[in-house]
Amino acid sequence: MHTDIERILFTESQIAQRVRELGEQISRDYERLLGDRIFHEPPIAVGLLRGAVIFLADLARAMRIPIELAFMAISSYGLSSSPGEVRVVKDLEISVAGRHILIVEDIVDTGQTLAHLQELLNARHPASVKVCALLNKTPRRARTVKLDYVGFTLTEDAFVVGYGLDYAERYRNLPYIAALKKSAITT
Ligand code: IMP
Repeated sequence: MHTDIERILFTESQIAQRVRELGEQISRDYERLLGDRIFHEPPIAVGLLRGAVIFLADLARAMRIPIELAFMAISSYGLSSSPGEVRVVKDLEISVAGRHILIVEDIVDTGQTLAHLQELLNARHPASVKVCALLNKTPRRARTVKLDYVGFTLTEDAFVVGYGLDYAERYRNLPYIAALKKSAITT
């Protein structure tokens, strides 16, 4: 185990199992919603860079329906100083009007990023917007957001890394999700 890790919260095999279940559930729901139209207008999975990349790579392969992949990057800096605004660092390169969107997030903490992103995408008139979050970290929630699919719920306010999640761009490639030692966090 990495020396900066306090403890492992979700192991590699627990994550793999949960991702398989989510892929199955999401496939079933969109099949029901779209029927044969799914082949003409597949849902677009919008992954948030960079945290959701590893999750989305696995989730996409656990889905047995046609999907398109797209990516956005959003900066959370300045959210508190300018509420109501999200700084889009990298925008989508496709139009989402009339399309079904599945936002794929690594972790929802205060909910600010997701709330702003939903407002931004809804203004582009998609057919639907759903959300799949790998982790739902509840203690600091400030905005009410509806999460359609959740990998795991965290009720403690731990800072977690691994499986795409970083601290200062490190630890993303750990195959498990773990709480980081306080000593590894420099403020
Ligand atoms: P929110 O806007 O407060 O919901 O924050 C969401 C973003 O904060 C996530 O997409 C992550 O980039 C980051 N974040 C929040 N909590 C953690 C954590 O425990 N580990 C790593 N990143 C986190």
